[in-house]
Amino acid sequence: MTQVVIEAVEVDQQAQQLLVACALPIDDLQDPANRLRLFGYRHDGHLFGLVGLEMHGRDVLLRSLAVADAARDRGLGAMLVAHAEQYAAAQGAQTLYLLTTTAEAFFSQRGYCLAERTTAPREIAATRQFAGLCPAAAAFMCKRLLR
Ligand SMILES: CC(C)(COP(=O)(O)OP(=O)(O)OC[C@H]1O[C@@H](n2cnc3c(N)ncnc32)[C@H](O)[C@@H]1OP(=O)(O)O)[C@@H](O)C(=O)NCCC(=O)NCCS
Repeated sequence: MTQVVIEAVEVDQQAQQLLVACALPIDDLQDPANRLRLFGYRHDGHLFGLVGLEMHGRDVLLRSLAVADAARDRGLGAMLVAHAEQYAAAQGAQTLYLLTTTAEAFFSQRGYCLAERTTAPREIAATRQFAGLCPAAAAFMCKRLLR
């Protein structure tokens, strides 16, 4: 992979197609209430990776982590998570939360711990990802950011 520059991206057709290809929800992407920031890696006009953050003050929901099949297992997913964590920390976030049905081991390797859904802060529990779009069986995980 050439040098990877991760940039802010819009909710465009490529972003939605990548999320759909990775079986991740898109229904709430345009909802202003979720205060979504998206970051991605593009090369030659193609979007290969994406990660999203729903910014709720000190608590942030990491979502929409997706790497195209053709770009997997080369460290892009890890770079996207690291970028998201740095951005969140710079904005004053203290804790990142996420829901996943497919990548619990991936996030465990990156310092995320399983948590009970009942411990979710109110604004995280109110997100559409948490309240409905992700199955109840999804693992709920969190990571405290270093400051
Ligand atoms: C999860 C995902 C983002 C990983 O992207 P990636 O670019 O292949 O990941 P990386 O190359 O950075 O992988 C880093 C490490 O995690 C491992 N890994 C990758 N995907 C994994 C998964 N689903 N479960 C467990 N480990 C995983 C890799 O083997 C690699 O291990 P290593 O460092 O020991 O070699 C990608 O598989 C994906 O888009 N999956 C579908 C969508 C999804 O599940 N998103 C997460 C829910 S929000």
